[in-house]
Amino acid sequence: CGIVGYVGPNSSLDVLLGGLSRLEYRGYDSAGVAVIGQDGTLGTRKRAGKLSVLLDNLKDAPLSDGQTGIGHTRWATHGGPTDRNAHPHLGDGGKLALIHNGIIENFAALKQELLEAGESFSSDTDTEVAAIMVGRAFRETGDLTLAMRQVVARLDGAFTLLIVHEDRPGEVVGARRNSPLVIGLGEGENFLGSDVAAFVEFTRRAVEIGQDQIVTIRPDSVIVTDFFGAPVETREYEIAWDASASEKGGWSSFMRKEISEEPDAVANTLLGRVVDGAVVLPELGALTPEVLADIDRIVIIACGTAAYAGLLGSYAIESWARVPVQVELSHEFRYRNPIITPRTLVVSISQSGETMDTLMAVRFAAESGARVLSICNTQGSSIPRESEAVIYTHAGPEVAVASTKAFVAQVTALYLLGLHLATVRGTLSPAELAHNIDELQAIPAKLADVLVASEDIGQLAGWMADTRSVLFLGRNVGYPVALEGALKLKELAYIHAEGFAAGELKHGPIALIEPGQIVFVIVPSPRDPSSLHPKVVSNIQEIRARGARVIAIAEKGDAAVLPFADEVIPIPLASPMFEPILAVVPLHIFALELATAKGLDVDQPRNLAKSVTVE
Ligand code: G6P
Repeated sequence: CGIVGYVGPNSSLDVLLGGLSRLEYRGYDSAGVAVIGQDGTLGTRKRAGKLSVLLDNLKDAPLSDGQTGIGHTRWATHGGPTDRNAHPHLGDGGKLALIHNGIIENFAALKQELLEAGESFSSDTDTEVAAIMVGRAFRETGDLTLAMRQVVARLDGAFTLLIVHEDRPGEVVGARRNSPLVIGLGEGENFLGSDVAAFVEFTRRAVEIGQDQIVTIRPDSVIVTDFFGAPVETREYEIAWDASASEKGGWSSFMRKEISEEPDAVANTLLGRVVDGAVVLPELGALTPEVLADIDRIVIIACGTAAYAGLLGSYAIESWARVPVQVELSHEFRYRNPIITPRTLVVSISQSGETMDTLMAVRFAAESGARVLSICNTQGSSIPRESEAVIYTHAGPEVAVASTKAFVAQVTALYLLGLHLATVRGTLSPAELAHNIDELQAIPAKLADVLVASEDIGQLAGWMADTRSVLFLGRNVGYPVALEGALKLKELAYIHAEGFAAGELKHGPIALIEPGQIVFVIVPSPRDPSSLHPKVVSNIQEIRARGARVIAIAEKGDAAVLPFADEVIPIPLASPMFEPILAVVPLHIFALELATAKGLDVDQPRNLAKSVTVE
């Protein structure tokens, strides 16, 4: 969920709604605001659906504006996405409003207690429990910060909470456990947000809030304490954020814009990291060459698209650095008692740096004694802060929910790591190292060619708009590409899509093939010495014989595949390990185009959120 709070001389509705529009990527099931109006009473408005629904409603029936307020955009956990489950929730007879990001795990027991005390509820959420509790605590103490402190002591789980009370105009109190919260410092005004996007338009000065801390903002003061009321030291930093980079510009969607930025995402991630023909990663800090030479196993943890980037990285790192690499979904790794030793390097991958499943797995890995490195696209987010070292992908802000440019940047960072490991472990010859570094540096220009070669995919997708199922096949490094192609199609076009290892076809999935079934095949280069090319061409023949329509993604000039494919999308020549970074782009475009042909919202697909900050 996205959270914003404001105190200051300006219209709080303007600040809150502007912030919510930049935070909508965190969830868009519903949105709401609470403002202490000029007349001194608390007004709230909340609506199911995207932020635009709330905006229309406020236009039709304006809310009395004021100088203190909070706003929320929701990704539903407890209670469906309805008006009444939207935030804010009210306490103290409607005088207090509260918004929440996270999950209060012991809410059922607390709710029972409140019901027995005679309280009643108007929603199915865990959040309302906190609202009613803080309201009761405020009635007793008359102090909003103290009320917050008393209540958080009783909550289990992960939460960011913000509250306002009509008896306390000019005051917003926030609390943070595990879910993110940052302060924005202004002149005579202050802000709170689940990330700096909430207030970047108004100030570049931000302050991090640590775990288990409470913050009280007033127009001219910011006070941060721990959950027991003891003051804590805070650190101010400057937000390095190009606001224009998070604007759509002339593009029809953020996703289309971000796909067009895939070449830049790779180029910027490489920038400064190859010096005199060698990989340099000074940001590895405590993970010195000695430490990395001594690592005996790598576990890559991530979710969604980041996990597929990790799978691809595992092929490269194992092959180059000769160290066993295992890839695991963060939420599986965290809860299955894995074997971790001080010689285990855990590499987490996350675009947002806030995915709760991955954050918890990182924390668990660190507590279990592993060395922890993160690959992340968001400066100052939670996962890098809890890791020993971080390699930032410099893909720029990614707004569309489905990850595209962050994926190619993550693969680039993993390849840089693989080549660095190979250097410190002495597993590649200087010539092999130089060759791979050259290949990596050639990727941005080749990606630009792929974008041009992919211009006809819109037409292809157009005549497939009624398709109900698409399969993706790939082998070796083409396999993660197949998985990623299928995920994108599910996320955006809401159709059944699956990725398979092409060699596995005959062991089951081939039963799915019937006349007209569309199958994308990622074809390895015919120049590949491992001779996978003829095997994949045979796989194509097997499915063609059963009536499949084959769309091959193949190296430019691959004549062997032509007779068997209905369509060929050509990609530039590259060494086998680097082909997937090129082959994935037409699949990103295909998912975008098919969803567009179906008239769907490609930036905000149903039920998803860009940052899933609950477990
Ligand atoms: C969500 C998004 C996915 C994304 C995944 C991991 O599920 O919808 O697009 O791949 O989270 O996100 P992260 O920010 O950790 O890379």
